[in-house]
Amino acid sequence: MEKIMIQDMPKHIGETVKIGAWLANKRSSGKIAFLQLRDGSGFVQGIVVKAEAGEALFAKAKGLTQETSMYVVGEITKDERSTFGCELQVKEIEVIHAAEDFPITPKEHGTEFLMDNRHLWLRSRKQHAIMKIRNEIIRATYNFFNERHFVKVDPPILTGSAPEGTSELFHTKYFDEDAYLSQSGQLYMEAAAMALGKVFSFGPTFRAEKSKTRRHLIEFWMIEPEMAFIEHDESLKVQEEYVAYLVQAVLANCQVELERLGRDLTKLEKIKAPFPRISYDEAIEFLHEKGFDDITWGDDFGAPHETAIAEHYDMPVFITCYPVGIKPFYMQPHPDRDDVVLCADLIAPEGYGEIIGGSERIHDYDLLKQRLAEHKLDEEAYAWYLDLRKQGSVPHSGFGLGLERTVAWISGAEHVRECIPFPRLLNRLYP
Ligand code: 4AD
Ligand code: MG
Repeated sequence: MEKIMIQDMPKHIGETVKIGAWLANKRSSGKIAFLQLRDGSGFVQGIVVKAEAGEALFAKAKGLTQETSMYVVGEITKDERSTFGCELQVKEIEVIHAAEDFPITPKEHGTEFLMDNRHLWLRSRKQHAIMKIRNEIIRATYNFFNERHFVKVDPPILTGSAPEGTSELFHTKYFDEDAYLSQSGQLYMEAAAMALGKVFSFGPTFRAEKSKTRRHLIEFWMIEPEMAFIEHDESLKVQEEYVAYLVQAVLANCQVELERLGRDLTKLEKIKAPFPRISYDEAIEFLHEKGFDDITWGDDFGAPHETAIAEHYDMPVFITCYPVGIKPFYMQPHPDRDDVVLCADLIAPEGYGEIIGGSERIHDYDLLKQRLAEHKLDEEAYAWYLDLRKQGSVPHSGFGLGLERTVAWISGAEHVRECIPFPRLLNRLYP
């Protein structure tokens, strides 16, 4: 007998098949039992009718505990109401392992309890849907950049220098030397762009941020494209096309998951390039008009400011040209002003905050050297990075998209902790 996955059942209507499954949930009366079965690829309802199945099989079905693993043999019948359009008329059940007291019962649980049981919580329908959407965003990322002939490059995780400032670094020993866990692969990606033209990375990054918000993780995954001969405006075009591509890919390939999460699709369907752009100056003016008197020119935005700006649009919005004082050392100055730099943050709609940070990079040797000094960074540690500016330096731009924040926005999750399999948070290194 053929062993199949639940997702392939619609192709086997009328056939008797075998599946490996866990019992997600169960309802039963004296005559009929409904088994909610899951195998990772999907969920399907198995039906055991006492009159047809016989006493023994019916009693076995009724006695199954939540999360028991088993092989189930049954005939696939059509059922328009279910997700995959079919159900399973159960004929045999072979229990592999009977689960004991599964803690995540189908009722409300507190967040800390769920996080302590993350290894089991992952099995729930909502978490399953978010992980599938995360996977689709990763798949679409590779497609998008491969279609455009970007080369995937893997920057190191253990590093000796700090691109985004030194306060949030995880320190470790590297034999007798000091090392840090990577907070961004950008500097290495710049070197790679000078070798390969257009490159992108996808990997874990680490920030010892003391922020406890719905947008912050200690360990998160970032996609970092870097492009030689590409200026700021051209980079924004790539960013908006990429983000719109991700949304359209999830809409096309994760209908079941979006529906399970109750996501408002009309909000996602609108997401098409180009995205609106406002300058930092305009954003400050806008916030003052809205009554935010807690912010003045030169300050960085907080979550309430970003949310107020985002609420004004039904698209992600670029905030461009921030003051030089609140951005990292490597950003190219504005051609007509020395108080702002050629950069942009992309703010997601619906309060999800910044999903991309990007900029054009300084390609002039002397200016970069000056900036390192101004930021009190050790020139020796950045010698190789400066060296790039001596060997055929060109204008180049790049950006970093935070995977978990993007997953949170597209799936409509409340918190980034649900958007990574095993979140690392301020007070959590377990499980
Ligand atoms: O804006 P950031 O700090 O930019 C950089 O690291 C650049 N070097 C990227 C580049 O130009 N190659 O971080 C980029 C993105 C943010 O927009 C956000 O989406 C995400 O990374 N991010 C976080 N996500 C979750 N938790 C955190 N603590 C995050 N910090 C940044
Ligand atoms: Mg940023």
